[in-house]
Amino acid sequence: MRKPIIAGNWKMYKTVEESVAFVQALAPQLADVTTIDCVVAPSFVALYSVAQAVQGTVLQVASQQMHWADEGAYTSQIAPTMLRGIASYAIIGHSECRAYLNETDEMVNKKARKALASGITPIIAVGESLEQRRSGVADSFVANQVRLAYDGISADQVAQTVLAYEPIWAIGTGENATGEIANDMIGGTIRGTLRELYGDAADNVRIQYGGSVKPENMAEYMRYPDIDGALVGGASLKVDAFVALIRIAQQAKGL
Ligand code: PGA
Repeated sequence: MRKPIIAGNWKMYKTVEESVAFVQALAPQLADVTTIDCVVAPSFVALYSVAQAVQGTVLQVASQQMHWADEGAYTSQIAPTMLRGIASYAIIGHSECRAYLNETDEMVNKKARKALASGITPIIAVGESLEQRRSGVADSFVANQVRLAYDGISADQVAQTVLAYEPIWAIGTGENATGEIANDMIGGTIRGTLRELYGDAADNVRIQYGGSVKPENMAEYMRYPDIDGALVGGASLKVDAFVALIRIAQQAKGL
């Protein structure tokens, strides 16, 4: 069975002090949780301090970005070598990075492959725009994003990747996708595409839903066996809401 993974993407929120205080408050409340991977993705400046603060707890750390080169003249970027011992995951291809930082499918693929080679689990985000959904091309667009992201990734490696289906129209808008839409895209389109590429190994890939997830709608997603957790922005910034998301997932998945 796939172990659910719930990750809080803090985006450009929280200072170093606030980030450390947050995990110090969160970790004791989740101390019993061994059946779900609980992950926080702080800003870069807070990564090291948070990594120190979560040592010996159930919490794990994700970077919000990662470059594909080990080092080099890439002002502002973070190399995988710098994340070693600090972050076990890196979020790659988030729609905000695709939109504001011009992250292309090719870059997403290079980063995902590099993450795997560096022992970092990539959380690869895909998802369609509102226009694409309205014009009926959401399926083909997302399937293509998946194919491009996984180019050159072998069936042996695929279990070490996580995908996040995040429809752009649902991110930060408060307008979440219905459980049915999320399940169609995750269980149908995305896992179907992985199955075409990898056969049965597709069943080992964890796929999250993301986009305005909160305690009030979490159960709606977690009741689908194909949805293996959530990538959460806004609701992950509050300790109580974070704890509630984990408890709801435990209950819905019978863990
Ligand atoms: P949201 O963000 O939960 O605030 O919609 C999700 C994300 O961007 O990963």
